Parts: sequence; C-alpha cells; structure tokens
Amino acid sequence: MRNFLSANDVEDVELLAQEVLELKKNPFQWKALGENKTMVLIFLNSSLRTRLSTQKAAQNLGMNTIVLNLGQDSWNMEFHEGAVMNGNTAEHIKEGAAVISEYADMIALRSFPTLTDKINDYQEFVLKQFMKYVNVPVVNMESATVHPLQSLTDLATIREFSTKKRPKVVLTWAPHLRALPQCVSNSFAQWMNRADVDFVIANPEGYDLSHEFRGDAPIFRNQEEAFKDADFIYAKNWSSFEQYGQILKTDFDWMITEEKMALTNHAKFMHCLPVRRNVVVSDGVLDSASSIVIQQAGNREWAAQAVIKRILENK
Ligand code: CP
Repeated sequence: MRNFLSANDVEDVELLAQEVLELKKNPFQWKALGENKTMVLIFLNSSLRTRLSTQKAAQNLGMNTIVLNLGQDSWNMEFHEGAVMNGNTAEHIKEGAAVISEYADMIALRSFPTLTDKINDYQEFVLKQFMKYVNVPVVNMESATVHPLQSLTDLATIREFSTKKRPKVVLTWAPHLRALPQCVSNSFAQWMNRADVDFVIANPEGYDLSHEFRGDAPIFRNQEEAFKDADFIYAKNWSSFEQYGQILKTDFDWMITEEKMALTNHAKFMHCLPVRRNVVVSDGVLDSASSIVIQQAGNREWAAQAVIKRILENK
C-alpha cells in the first residue's frame, strides 16, 4: 500500500481488520521495520485519540514522530493555486508540503470539511492539494469526507466482540447541538458495505448520507424498528448532506437510551468519541456493560499500526 486515504486503498477490509487484531496480540515484534524513519503528523484540527494512537502506533514500529499543528506551530498555509498571498496565509502548500516531505518518510494528515462549500469538501480539496505536492506516503487521519483509521478500528472492534460471523450492525444518527461533519458516518458506511455484516442505517428525513458512501444500505426513518435484532449500535451525529452542513432536527428524540437498547439483541454500543453525554447517548447506556467505546478507542492504536506497517512494507 502506498497511501491510506480511504477504504478504496484496501483490497480486503476484513483481512486488514484481522491484521489489526493480530498486531494487538504482539505489537512490538515489528520494531525494526520503522527504525531510523520519521512520521510527521499534521493537524489542522483538534484531536485526542487520533493524535495519541497514531503516534504510538508509529513508535511501536520503531519510527520517530513529529507532531505539527499547522497554523499554530507553523505558518498559516495557503491551499489555493494562483492565490495572491496578501492575506493571513504566509506559506503556500506547494512549498509547505514539499518541505515537510524532506523531513518525513511518511506523513499523516488531519483536515476537516468547511461544511459550507459542498463541492470543495466532497472533492477533498485540502487533501488533494496536499497530495499534489508531497513526495512520501500519506495516511489520512480524517479528511472532509472520510475517517478511514476510525472505520478500520470499528470493523476490527466489531470482529473482536462479535459472536456471529455476520452480525447486524446499525449506524444511527443521534442528536447534537452543533453542525458536525459526515465523515465518520460516510466512512463507516463505506467500510460496512464492504464487510461481511448485515448493515442498515437509521436517520431522520433530510439526513441521508451521500449515495457514494451509503451505497444501497437500507435506510430506516424509524430508529426503534432499525434497532430490532441489532448486534451493534453505532451512534453518530452528522449534519445534513442534502441541505449541506445544516441542522434540521433540534429535539432529542433520537438520543440512544437504555429503553432503545433493550429492543436489540443485547447489542454492543459503539461511538467514535468524543461524545456528548445525555445528548447523543444517555449515561445509562454509556456506563453500561454493553458500551465498548473505550475498547473501541483503544483499538485505534492497532488499526493505525496495521496501516503504517503495510505502508512500510509497501504491500
Ligand atoms: N475519534 C476521533 O477521531 O477522535 P479525535 O478527534 O479525538 O482524534
């Protein structure tokens, strides 16, 4: 594998998820693979899990790591071609990305959508501009439309906790106070559609994800109906794709509660975190034995390691 930008860079998502769980058993056996190599992790946005787990994963493989908060630790970057740089951007991505490549054997990038410019966001403008000018492999730590390290983690976690070969997995929209990106949900749908699971989506009217990512997964408007017989409930808020970046529903009817979880087949509760308690999900669910959000977050390390290992091996 040269780059890890989305599920499209992976031939067999189930096989990679198995590699994640294998690495978890013995994480330090590949320490020589990354010796004397450096990963530069670039953040254009806040992060807790991705920042720590990706660094740790690279270090488990013997790599040095450097974290750069672009625009905070460094100059504000200009991404537009032909820009007259008489505003607050001091360095163009043409030089910036090329210079970072001089110091890095691998780069990991976290960008984010604008949620105002649908065309730019869904063309992955920032990631694509970056890719044009780097000379080393790139790992996507979340971009405008996808979060593949999270989704690989999610699939590996489902495999780890599933007692069935083909579990029922429900991606459900949940309430939030702010307009959030669609990337975690897009990406989860993209990976689940390629995995050996019975996958359905529950979301209110106006919140259908882009067909590019949700594919032909059944969509339920009735959340409780979708929960029936579910083995995994994956909750996430996202803003509208159709009325791009808008919040269309402001009540908390779709919050995940113990009553709704009782409709499932003793389902495990998953969320990528961070999560707003008693808005997205009740304390009762999050603090119950059915919640596996901490184990899920823990698996971020092994998922990142499986990806970085494949890139180091170039296979
Ligand atoms: N789930 C996730 O990506 O968390 P962070 O934003 O904290 O990295």
